[in-house]
Amino acid sequence: MPDTETNQFTDDPATTGRCTATLITGAGGEIGHGLIEALSDAGRTDLVALDLRELDAGLCRRCCASHVVDVRDEAGVEPIFERYEVTEIYHLAALLSTTAEKDPELAHAVNVGGTMNILTLAARYGLQHNRRIRVLFPSTIAVYGLPDVETRDRAGAIREDQYAEPATMYGCNKRYCEDVGRYYSEHYRRLSSARGDLGPIDFRALRYPGIISAHTTPSGGTSDYFPEMLHAAARGEPYASFVAEDVRIPFMTMPDAVAAMLGLAAADEARLTRRVYNVTSFNPTAGEYAGRIRDAFPGADLTFAPDAARASIIDTWPADIDDLSARRDWGWAPQHDLDAAFDDYLIPAIRARAGA
Ligand SMILES: NC(=O)c1ccc[n+]([C@@H]2O[C@H](COP(=O)([O-])OP(=O)(O)OC[C@H]3O[C@@H](n4cnc5c(N)ncnc54)[C@H](O)[C@@H]3O)[C@@H](O)[C@H]2O)c1
Repeated sequence: MPDTETNQFTDDPATTGRCTATLITGAGGEIGHGLIEALSDAGRTDLVALDLRELDAGLCRRCCASHVVDVRDEAGVEPIFERYEVTEIYHLAALLSTTAEKDPELAHAVNVGGTMNILTLAARYGLQHNRRIRVLFPSTIAVYGLPDVETRDRAGAIREDQYAEPATMYGCNKRYCEDVGRYYSEHYRRLSSARGDLGPIDFRALRYPGIISAHTTPSGGTSDYFPEMLHAAARGEPYASFVAEDVRIPFMTMPDAVAAMLGLAAADEARLTRRVYNVTSFNPTAGEYAGRIRDAFPGADLTFAPDAARASIIDTWPADIDDLSARRDWGWAPQHDLDAAFDDYLIPAIRARAGA
């Protein structure tokens, strides 16, 4: 049975020995579900989960241990590093964009403070055990801040080094953490004479677009309109989108989001030309999504009632991003374009669940 704890460590690592572990923070969230399922399906038995909430039983069974801890709490997280030889970390715990904008100070504490905790502990234990810990970090298109809609519409697909001036607390948090992750990988303690060529961490980040899952519904994000529209239609419930019909941002499916993270994790470090990569799949307008959803669920009651404040956030995000570097450096290619997302993944999975 997996070991579910609220951080009450009872065995002494000095006597039990330390087994290797892959730590997943924010494990109970949408991406955590997809990632844990994929890793466990691939035979990984070393998954250690961390979240504020208890993991659901199905997910818990796929992990060797599950810890209910606040990622901001260094004293709460450190025993995990003492107990296990952590070799790889998927640091997913965060407050998403809409939630973050409602409480920017809390978002900073969780998104930056939590990340600093993870990086600090990874560096400390990596150095102690002479091991470079790989840290995978899900960043976001919210790190981009287009100054106005005209510029955004003219800009085309944005590269990683363009317009990276975020207009939300969430985007600022992620942008800063990308830089600190790079610092720990390449410049850590540069005044120390004991310093080697590389830092104690191998940090790698993906700038994700919106992510759509057939199995889970998001909450607290500004790209939630597409998944909310789809899942409401599948349940036969009406839905009014908080963005206008012509809003266009990039998206990808959850299986592709997980595959991207695993692909970047597996890439040969020598081939990486950057530590932060754009990845994307398709970018229709909200109205085009509604049309596709109506084709699949005739009679779906989908309307548009834009919320000016939330729309003002999405207006600063790019309509498309350029993921050429990821394709070139580590062979990124999404499995699902728009047709495949609907025809091979979303609609069949939702119908299968409804049938079951
Ligand atoms: N879903 C998307 O569209 C998307 C897009 C870009 C980036 N991301 C990033 O991917 C990561 C995961 O996103 P998600 O969609 O799974 O989000 P989610 O909200 O579904 O999951 C986040 C998880 O983090 C946990 N958490 C929050 N605060 C915590 C704390 N203080 N200590 C411990 N755990 C805490 C939550 O309980 C939750 O289970 C986040 O970092 C997010 O910024 C997501």
